Amino acid sequence: KKKTFSAEVNGKTITIASKETLLSAALRQNIDFPNSCRVGGCATCKCRLTSGKVRELTDSSYVLSEHELENDFILACQSVPVGDVTVEYEERATKTVSGTVVGQSSLTHDITQLTIKTNTPLSYRPGQYAELELAGLPNIKRSYSFATANSDPCSLTFFIRQVGNGRFSSRAVEEDLMGQSLSVTGPHGDFWLRAGEKDILVVAGGSGLAPIMAMLEQALTNRENRSVTLLFGARQQRDLYKLAEIKSLKDLWPTRFSFVPILSECSRDSDWQGGKGFVTDFIGEYIDGIGQAYLCGPPVMVDKAKETLISLGLNPNDIYADRFTTVT
Ligand code: FES
Repeated sequence: KKKTFSAEVNGKTITIASKETLLSAALRQNIDFPNSCRVGGCATCKCRLTSGKVRELTDSSYVLSEHELENDFILACQSVPVGDVTVEYEERATKTVSGTVVGQSSLTHDITQLTIKTNTPLSYRPGQYAELELAGLPNIKRSYSFATANSDPCSLTFFIRQVGNGRFSSRAVEEDLMGQSLSVTGPHGDFWLRAGEKDILVVAGGSGLAPIMAMLEQALTNRENRSVTLLFGARQQRDLYKLAEIKSLKDLWPTRFSFVPILSECSRDSDWQGGKGFVTDFIGEYIDGIGQAYLCGPPVMVDKAKETLISLGLNPNDIYADRFTTVT
């Protein structure tokens, strides 16, 4: 029985070893295949299977839309060909630029904002992300969403949340990085504000606010005439941030803009007046009139929010999500 197969990837032919995923075969043979988490959680490696069959290692239905599933999209990192295959992926204008940290400030006890001045412009769609690599920490690349609209393509801002003893994130949160060199590779991802007139529900948790701030800032500049409801989940009051910026978005927004902060760990004696519980438990209260949803934050939150929205009747094709998989 034949053990190795061949794959045609955007017109180039590669070989697939026994039990090898499409992604690892492509990378091994120097194809610049888009990828990030490599565990089936981010959809960066999605591609269209135009001929042949694959065996999927995990269920891709959480990260691919119904439309994509119907159109034979697969995750290259989770697909093992069981015969010769042909796949196509969208080549993006991804590039690597070098830059210097010109701004570093704490947003909360575990989230730091980094601003990077780059030597050459890097354009992106607000909502997308990039990989950062510090010159002083080579080969440790971490993905972060652009946190502002792309008004100055040589100035990039990211929110870095400390994950355990994460090598990259601990440095960013605990050490002084001002003046340090780093490289930024991007843009990646397909999370951005879709055109249209539908009212928007945003569900964000933790540092998941970054791409949302970028998208909303862009929408405001474009004078998008759509109502926005932003549900923001955090643990405690000290985990809320960017409140002044959200307030100014709200004040400048041409139509209704509702901001609903929700705390999951709220002590009984606290004077907190906002929502208490999990952010996903509040979706039902705010679903009326919503035509599109944008979800961003920890995978458990995103998956639960998606499930809730679908059960409340929102079309899965109108749900866009960015699951923040954490790597230490
Ligand atoms: Fe395949 Fe993230 S790289 S899903």
